[in-house]
Amino acid sequence: MDFVITGGAGFIGSHIAEQLVNTDHNVTVIDNLSNGKKKNLNKIINKIKFVNGDIRDFDLLKNTLKNTDGVFHQAALASVQESFSKEQEYRDVNVGGTENILKLAKEFNFKVVYASSSSIYGNPEKIPIKENDKKNPINPYAVTKLDDENLAIKYANMGVRVIGLRYFNVFGEKQSSTYAGVIKKFVKKVRSNEAPIINGDGQQTRDFVYVGDVVNANILAMNSNVDHEFFNIGTATTITVLELANLIIKSFNLSLKPIHGPELPGDVKITKADISQVEKMLKWKPKTRIEEWLKNTIITGTNLDLLTE
Ligand SMILES: NC(=O)c1ccc[n+]([C@@H]2O[C@H](COP(=O)([O-])OP(=O)(O)OC[C@H]3O[C@@H](n4cnc5c(N)ncnc54)[C@H](O)[C@@H]3O)[C@@H](O)[C@H]2O)c1
Repeated sequence: MDFVITGGAGFIGSHIAEQLVNTDHNVTVIDNLSNGKKKNLNKIINKIKFVNGDIRDFDLLKNTLKNTDGVFHQAALASVQESFSKEQEYRDVNVGGTENILKLAKEFNFKVVYASSSSIYGNPEKIPIKENDKKNPINPYAVTKLDDENLAIKYANMGVRVIGLRYFNVFGEKQSSTYAGVIKKFVKKVRSNEAPIINGDGQQTRDFVYVGDVVNANILAMNSNVDHEFFNIGTATTITVLELANLIIKSFNLSLKPIHGPELPGDVKITKADISQVEKMLKWKPKTRIEEWLKNTIITGTNLDLLTE
């Protein structure tokens, strides 16, 4: 089949692209390389079509998407901290760009599986978080992701097939500095025998989900007969940021002590996904646990450069 991946030169998008190529699909990537890198597509660059373009450019998108069977929409500006100073740009890319894709899905009748975010929940009232729980975005980035969900609902009511995957904190090879960027920062520091710096007391919990599992969720969502839904994509387990720092130190066989800095504005305290809905409807289950993956990556040195570069 023919698939388009927006943001396909980024962290998650490039993993989706690899998996689709490896399973013999025709892949087009559209990315303006504002955060992604062509190098992320090194392994498959000769087997895909790469369009260096912007999802705000409706005519370009129309041309790129007119014959596709489905779009994995990953392109977005995704830094919580940056979104405070670039609110309008975040809105134009994340909301305007998403609406362009949904408009074209209506016109050309392709299915859209897109990257939503656990950040739409803000600081949750109950743990684990269920899909119907209250949405309370606490930063401009998260507001754009919630606006995207409202757009998805609007277009689904007009017959568009669209599934939003609310990723929790995605980690893995080639990861960007957003979300699970804490892993990257800690590994970089500890690798050079320096103490990792924790924002706040380190008691904030995170539900880290492996990128390979996120890719599978995307593909299951695209192939399923579910037309419209939102799913939490996490692991239903958590680790505190302090535990994470200590795990990395231990895996490097060092005895550093983390340093504590000030809390970050807009930083969510607790997250943990309830994933019963996606387990039931898409038969998806995460397979890789952060503890084992990190230990293994650090101890064997495999892909360690891909994590820190
Ligand atoms: N990484 C996570 O933990 C996480 C968690 C929740 C949601 N998400 C969402 O998942 C998606 C992918 O995130 P990622 O971690 O791979 O980030 P990323 O920055 O690595 O990937 C995003 C890609 O989109 C591209 N892009 C940005 N603006 C664009 C534009 N105007 N036109 C075309 N391309 C553009 C960037 O160049 C980049 O390659 C994003 O929508 C993000 O909001 C990620």
